[in-house]
This record gives sequence, structure tokens and C-alpha cells, in this order.
Amino acid sequence: MITLQRGHAFHFHRGIVSHDLLIGESEGITVRATSGATLVALRPTFAEYVLKMKRGAQVVYPKDIAMILLHGDIHPGAIVLEAGAGSGALTLGLLRAVGPEGRVLTYEIREDFAAVARANVEAFLGKAENLEIKLGSVYEAIEETDLDRVILDLPEPWRVLPAARTALRPGGIFVAYLPTVLQVHTLVEELRADPSWTLVSTFEALVRPWHVEGRSVRPEHRMVAHTGFITSARRVVPPAPAAGRPPADDVPGGGAGEPEDPSGEEKLSNEDG
Ligand SMILES: C[S@@+](CC[C@H](N)C(=O)[O-])C[C@H]1O[C@@H](n2cnc3c(N)ncnc32)[C@H](O)[C@@H]1O
Repeated sequence: MITLQRGHAFHFHRGIVSHDLLIGESEGITVRATSGATLVALRPTFAEYVLKMKRGAQVVYPKDIAMILLHGDIHPGAIVLEAGAGSGALTLGLLRAVGPEGRVLTYEIREDFAAVARANVEAFLGKAENLEIKLGSVYEAIEETDLDRVILDLPEPWRVLPAARTALRPGGIFVAYLPTVLQVHTLVEELRADPSWTLVSTFEALVRPWHVEGRSVRPEHRMVAHTGFITSARRVVPPAPAAGRPPADDVPGGGAGEPEDPSGEEKLSNEDG
């Protein structure tokens, strides 16, 4: 990935290509290096850019960004709080999904990472007026309210839950991206302990590329096997305790006071979504 500049040249293991051969020409043209090798010139897609851009912190991989945007239901016009900004990969995905009518506020504790994130976003999207990068810890407090989505990529997202519960509007969606199962376990336990959250679900995205050449059609030998787990939950209005009913602890069998299902069929619980 190169930035074209008049009079400059791209050097690689098979020769040199002058930037001037490309400037002003159509995307998709083929150019010849000094060695005679041919190259096709294309602007990077978002997924390509994320893997090549300057890194501060480890980025969320494109396969996971796609899933976070889908399962977080990030839509045009949404108001999204993110933390931490890191290198800005997920921030970019969020900005593209919310569009010009939406807004992304991202908390980042490290000033150097905040600067890398801002530079990466602006190199790809230009000036993003609807992005605010807040320097500070999201563990301390969330100042905003009435948020549509809270999307976290940091080590201890459960520490954000009390503030996220207040900041998210009812019906809002919380998503956390975590690399290890121990972190997922802590987060899910905390979500399940609070009736303000429901539809708690965790998954990972495995993308297996295929080799398709002649009669050799098979999975590639290598893949990016593990990146992270995605956990999501919906913010709801906790149900009011039913009048005149004993607290859950007093119910024989230890149930939560729910009537028995006469069909005897297994029910989907909130845990299963
Ligand atoms: C894995 S990186 C995020 C990468 C980012 N999602 C991306 O795609 O480029 C985690 C980031 O969270 C930041 N961070 C850690 N704890 C934080 C906190 N309490 N508040 C805000 N940011 C925090 C770190 O400095 C780091 O930049």
C-alpha cells in the first residue's frame, strides 16, 4: 500500500515503478516495473487498509469487525460509544456504518494511540466531523447518555457495565470483543447477574480461505485460527417484581418465580437468546 506522490517511485523485489505512471490514471490499470514485471493498481478496500495501516495497538481483524457491525446492529444514524480506540480499525468500521448522520465517541487511555487512531481514520475517510476521541479511562465514567450502542475492545469490559447500563438507552446493544475465555466468563457472569441485560450471547468467527486451482479445490493449509470472542447483550428495563409473590429464594425448587410450563417442553431461556 503506497501513497502516490509525483516524482516518487515504488521499489520492490521485482523492480521499480514510477508513481507518475499511476497519477491521473484509472484505478485498475496494469503498469510495468523496470524488470518487466506487471502490477495491477487498485485502491485498498477497508479490510485491506486495516491490515496495512500504521498500528499502535493490535487491531480488530476485518472478519471480526464485520461480525461486530452486524451483531451490534450498527446502523446509519446510530450514536455509538467505543473504547478503546487503539489503532482506529474498529472506529473506522463504526464510522462507515453510522454514516454522516450518526456519531462515534471513542475513549482511549493512551494519548499516542489516540493520535494513531485519528491519523488512520483521517487517512482513509478524510476529516471525520462525527468522530470524537476522548482521552481518558472509560472505567472511570461515561458522560454521555441515550446511546444506541456501546462497543468495547479492552481488557476488563465488565468494569464498564454499571456505566454502560446508565448510558445505553433501553433496547440498546452492548458488544465486547475479548481474546480469552476467562475474560468472556467473567463478563457473561456479570451480565447475567444484572436484570438490565438480556439476550447474552457469545461466539467467535472462523474464516477459512479455500485454494481453488484446477482440480485442487481444498481449504488453504493456513488460516487465522484465533483472534477473539464476541459477546453481546441487550439493555432492557428490568421487570418489576410481581406483587404479592415471595422472593425467588423462598420458591420451592429455587426457581425465579416463573410458572411451570405445562407442555413440559424445554424452553429457550435468555441465556440461549
Ligand atoms: C486492543 S486495543 C483496541 C484496538 C482497536 N479496537 C482497533 O481495532 O484498532 C485496546 C485499547 O484499549 C485501550 N484501553 C485500555 N484500557 C482502557 C480504558 N480503561 N479506557 C479507555 N481505553 C482503554 C488501550 O490503550 C488500547 O489502545
